Amino acid sequence: PNITFIHPDGHAQNVDAALGDSAMSAATRAGIDEIVAECGGSAVCATCHVYVDDDWLTRVGDVSGDESELLEGVATDRLPNSRLSCQIKITEALDGLVLRLPERQI
Ligand code: FES
Repeated sequence: PNITFIHPDGHAQNVDAALGDSAMSAATRAGIDEIVAECGGSAVCATCHVYVDDDWLTRVGDVSGDESELLEGVATDRLPNSRLSCQIKITEALDGLVLRLPERQI
């Protein structure tokens, strides 16, 4: 599946993601520095924050309670479409997913 990350300056970067991977891993593998992912995907650091494009919001699924608590601590504003990218699992249904990268993670 293909994911598009939109950098804070507006430029779009397409990344190939493996099925079952997280959006965070796909980003870090592609060298996207805006995803810091200090904890490596264990859902404890909140430095893998992304904003999900509105068209995709229902398809990425719900935010768990633990994720929601962590999202309270993200470095830029938490918005209704905020997610931790390590908690977004790539499926065929997410082919074409668009995620916006925040200005900073720390
Ligand atoms: Fe640490 Fe997502 S990588 S919370």
